[in-house]
Amino acid sequence: MQENIVKELGLSPLWRKKSTLAETPPPPAAAVAEVPSKAVSKRNVVNQSPVQSPVADVSGGIRVAKMNWQQLRGAVEECQQCPLCPTRIKTVFGVGDRQATVMIIGEGPGEEEDQRGEPFVGRAGKLLDMMLHAIQLDRKRNVYISNMVKCRPPGNRNPTREEIEQCLPYLQRQIALVEPHLLVALGKVAAAHLLNTETSIAQLRQKVHDYNNIPLVVTYHPAYLLRSPQEKRKSWEDLKFIRRLLKEH
Ligand code: URA
Repeated sequence: MQENIVKELGLSPLWRKKSTLAETPPPPAAAVAEVPSKAVSKRNVVNQSPVQSPVADVSGGIRVAKMNWQQLRGAVEECQQCPLCPTRIKTVFGVGDRQATVMIIGEGPGEEEDQRGEPFVGRAGKLLDMMLHAIQLDRKRNVYISNMVKCRPPGNRNPTREEIEQCLPYLQRQIALVEPHLLVALGKVAAAHLLNTETSIAQLRQKVHDYNNIPLVVTYHPAYLLRSPQEKRKSWEDLKFIRRLLKEH
């Protein structure tokens, strides 16, 4: 199965087959479902970020911090708080298992996500799904996926700091509701904001950081991997790192 995925991704020479991975059969569904034996070891945590308040200090943050899933989705759908709202087609809330152990955080919706209202459904999303499958994670079963901002930045530009901060209470509430034991930040925008750093992905990856007492790892954004396929090998190393963390506890 691993080999098929690597082939389908067209990664064969780049994603070196790792003996442990090649030899380890995928766990049965029941075992995967148990990956959520929440609590990734914190002994390797390298970057203890300053504790941030459970909600960003923006108006409405406290209200959002008490919402249930339904209220939160409704608040996102009705949100008019930042300049991204008027140009969106659909808000892109999040998708996946609300009790997942692993939560993936991207940057913001692109064109297809804006049209469909679901994160990571375009080309980058297809690559993300393949990457997740390679470590037995699946948006339909055992991972939750969301973005820093819930509306598409026009022309796929990066969201601004202000837009991210306006939207942050929604993400923070999603994290609080899911209670993941591992956060995965995809790409520079998510990593920079969640860890409050300008450090490059190259330096942040392969380490366990801390986000409000939740272990957080950083890896390349799949859209970047599509543009820079030579980095896929490193991304594969990061996926194995994630899988090791999940197995460790
Ligand atoms: N890129 C992201 O960061 N998020 C999406 O949902 C789609 C593309």
